[in-house]
Amino acid sequence: MSAFTGASVCVCYQVGEDEILGWIRRGAASVEDLGEMCRAGQGCGDCHESLEELLEDVSAEGPPDER
Ligand code: FES
Repeated sequence: MSAFTGASVCVCYQVGEDEILGWIRRGAASVEDLGEMCRAGQGCGDCHESLEELLEDVSAEGPPDER
């Protein structure tokens, strides 16, 4: 078993969905931010679409203080 939980989103850097969601909730606002924070998306670029979708999912939840 691998160390991360959730589906692997970025295969190049083995970054899972749960980890990416965690970074987005901690302030990542773009694919570039995620790349700086956890390297996701810095390789082949195939995962950019999935990263965008996760960014949209979290922004649809609204700011944490409104939940
Ligand atoms: S799968 Fe994320 S950069 Fe290649």
